[in-house]
Amino acid sequence: MVKKLVNKIIIVGCGPGSKKLMTVQASQYIKDADVLVGSRRLLSLFADAEAVKYTLNRNYKQLITRIISLSRSKSVVVLVSGDPGFFSYAKLIVDKAGIENCEVIPGVSSVQLAFARIGRTWNDACFMSLHGRTGRLAALIRRVRDHDKVAVLTDDSNNVKLIARRLLDEGLKDRKVYVCENLSLDKERIREFDVTSLLKVQVKGLNVIIILDEESSE
Ligand SMILES: C[S@@+](CC[C@H](N)C(=O)[O-])C[C@H]1O[C@@H](n2cnc3c(N)ncnc32)[C@H](O)[C@@H]1O
Repeated sequence: MVKKLVNKIIIVGCGPGSKKLMTVQASQYIKDADVLVGSRRLLSLFADAEAVKYTLNRNYKQLITRIISLSRSKSVVVLVSGDPGFFSYAKLIVDKAGIENCEVIPGVSSVQLAFARIGRTWNDACFMSLHGRTGRLAALIRRVRDHDKVAVLTDDSNNVKLIARRLLDEGLKDRKVYVCENLSLDKERIREFDVTSLLKVQVKGLNVIIILDEESSE
């Protein structure tokens, strides 16, 4: 167990990418930080910040130990995309350091913004992340069969075409799919497709998809 730290580790949800969607509290913590930890993409948003910057990549296990030791003397802010409570490194840090040593600042999740953009509710949605996870397509198909509304985080390998091909193979071609790319960023694009058309679509950059069964949903 980690002893009480002098400074709590601040885990900040940075939202989907535009600084306009960050909370005032999140921006203030980042401004005041001695150390910022985050992905290259998130750190580049705060290039002007005076804090020492550590890039989080596959080194995250060692970096979490370093974050804990730095927090004994410095204010450390860990940047995560979207909301920390939704598929992020926050869980690993809180599990290791203990919640008494952490403060979690919520952010707007990519899925919240995706639902806002298409004008649908998300209180009745089911969520799944394929980001960095292989072998999850069978689980996704089960969710699509069981739920009218499924939001999926994708990545370059677990991409829209792969998902479309599997939906077709499983006889789920009647679903409607929204592809929400680069939410809040310059190249944001929200498009609606049937599953067959998805096979021909070019999707670039960060994206979330929302799979709807229009027959039975709102
Ligand atoms: C590690 S997960 C982090 C999710 C994050 N905690 C959240 O609440 O949105 C990264 C995935 O979130 C989605 N994502 C993050 N930012 C996005 C954006 N601006 N536009 C579309 N999808 C985004 C993508 O599916 C990406 O692969």
